[in-house]
Amino acid sequence: MSNKIKINLKVNGENVTYEVEPQENLLRALRNNFNWDVKCGCEAGECGTCSVLLDGKEVKSCLTLAAACDGHEIWTDKGLGLNDRLTARLQEAFVECGSVQCGFCTPGMIMAGVEYLKNGGKADRKAIKYAISGHLCRCTGYIKIVDAIYKVAEEIEEGALA
Ligand code: FES
Ligand code: FES
Repeated sequence: MSNKIKINLKVNGENVTYEVEPQENLLRALRNNFNWDVKCGCEAGECGTCSVLLDGKEVKSCLTLAAACDGHEIWTDKGLGLNDRLTARLQEAFVECGSVQCGFCTPGMIMAGVEYLKNGGKADRKAIKYAISGHLCRCTGYIKIVDAIYKVAEEIEEGALA
């Protein structure tokens, strides 16, 4: 007999009901329901690639119990990019700055960058490095990722994204 439970979520602006195991993490619940832009790396809270916004705050979905998200709102990199101008601009900036190589870390890096910028983060390389410090990238050396977030922060400061 299945001991699955039903949870109601708002995922990328859409009301959904997922059936999850009591111990299932949010990462698996999202991927089991076709949100494959949420990547599974370490599943131990170390790489950051599984990051999503939960009620506007970046969380590592592998460390988040799906059942505890009942009634809450989740945005993933793909959904946010389609609905939010700042996120779409940051995604473009990652391409322009060559911040993507294999791309595995990219959704999580975008989530970290979005949270940084939405909280008023400035064009400050040291602060940006701190903002992405919970995320691992095996390809880029991080500099181009910082460049992309820096570029969008500058555009915000100049009023170009107002
Ligand atoms: S998969 Fe969640 S932090 Fe690595
Ligand atoms: S681009 Fe490959 S892990 Fe970051």
